[in-house]
Amino acid sequence: MHGLGRDDRVILLTSPMTSMRICWLNGEFVAEDSAKISIFDRGVLFGDGIYEVAAVVNGRLLDADLHLVRLTRSLAAVGIAMVQSAAAWLEIMQTLATRNGIVEGLVYLQVTRGVAEREFPFPANVPPTMFAYARPKALTNDPNAVGVRAHVVPDLRWARRDIKSTSLLAQVLAKQAARAAGAFEAIMHDEGIVTEGGSSTIWIVQHGTLVTRPLSNDILAGITRDVTLQLAAALKRPVVERAFTLDEALDAEECFLTSATSLVLPITQIDDRNIGSGQPGPVTAALRDAYIARAIELTTAPVLAVSA
Ligand code: PDD
Repeated sequence: MHGLGRDDRVILLTSPMTSMRICWLNGEFVAEDSAKISIFDRGVLFGDGIYEVAAVVNGRLLDADLHLVRLTRSLAAVGIAMVQSAAAWLEIMQTLATRNGIVEGLVYLQVTRGVAEREFPFPANVPPTMFAYARPKALTNDPNAVGVRAHVVPDLRWARRDIKSTSLLAQVLAKQAARAAGAFEAIMHDEGIVTEGGSSTIWIVQHGTLVTRPLSNDILAGITRDVTLQLAAALKRPVVERAFTLDEALDAEECFLTSATSLVLPITQIDDRNIGSGQPGPVTAALRDAYIARAIELTTAPVLAVSA
């Protein structure tokens, strides 16, 4: 019998759980193998849906309220009804983390336009399909914190990247290309201008200043991006929100990504080029530490009882 090595631990933390997992589908908590949806669901037929991914730290949701604000915005942008309150979603998400014993990980939720005959325009009077599940993942102790490689690909997506749509084929292809190139993340660009990571926000550090793309229809308004901006301000680190080029990223002192699934993660190599020293830089490390400290503080604070 061999001991538990680092790679074993990664596999244990990231592999899907067995049929013991409890999921939530259209109002019911059900075992994973009973959580079934129709082949006529518009999420399946058209990718006609919206999703969110929120982190769990110390068994508690992190910034899930902000994710639900974005869910409300994305649903409104595509005309899908928000048929249950943010408070109801919060309770479902927390219950999934608790019932599945997730100490550190992610909660995923999806809302589709529902089940109908395959016609492109919206069906009338069809309730949205809603589901959610939780999975374990190492976040505060992520082995990738030593730095990851990114691979550059053209951004093939549509023009409303601010909507967190389940139509993710372009990102699937981008991230598969990254994996084939031995990289952890894809850096997507539009004619040499960086848009985003395949599933993350991209940042660079130039002359000690943080640079990230301003919010617009061109990128998703990352929740981790927003919190990182607040932490940068608290650390008195200058920030400029502007578009930047691939060449600037290659020549940057530091490069990193932010997302609910990776928090703040150093990108130490873009394709075959080392970024800065090729090691995680001090600005990225300080932001990752600050992010984790905040996450631990928020998820260990006593829960205030709401008085009548
Ligand atoms: N993706 N940009 C894109 C294209 C993303 O898909 C994501 C997140 C982000 C970062 O957003 P946030 O900080 O709110 O996680 C930016 C999620 C994690 C996913 O698809 O799995």
